[in-house]
Amino acid sequence: MNEYSQIDRVLQRYHYDSKALVNILQEVQETCKGRYISEATAEYVAERLDVTKSNVYEVVTFFAALREHPVGEVLIQLCNSTVCKVKKNIEVKNALEEALGIQMGETTKDKKFTLQYTTCFGACDVSPAVRVNKVVYGNLDRETTLALIAKLRREHCE
Ligand code: FES
Repeated sequence: MNEYSQIDRVLQRYHYDSKALVNILQEVQETCKGRYISEATAEYVAERLDVTKSNVYEVVTFFAALREHPVGEVLIQLCNSTVCKVKKNIEVKNALEEALGIQMGETTKDKKFTLQYTTCFGACDVSPAVRVNKVVYGNLDRETTLALIAKLRREHCE
């Protein structure tokens, strides 16, 4: 199945209703290579929903959950909201950057891992926390973060 037929399936599920544009784009993004809304994807969705490409881009740029640039196969989002900051998410950040050899906001050269900050995703009771492709890992410190990266490497790089 090609990328456009997957996009069509999402659009069909929403009955081509442009009022559902945010939800549509979130689902479409996850079906696309690089998990972002490319220019070609934005154009295709706009055409199928009978809206302008700039309508699509306004939504993509406004909602933090939507991405204009590709991310790695493993998207690691570190919460940078108050509780996680107080609980020393800086230690987690340093361990992530050290283990992967990249800075927050970057993707590894092999396109496997992307590091991003995010806002609170409701895991404050186990802060500091990260979300890895939607799975939450909490109560992290330097050691558990390094162990998490080792586990993710085994799962995604071997
Ligand atoms: S403040 Fe980090 S998960 Fe809520």
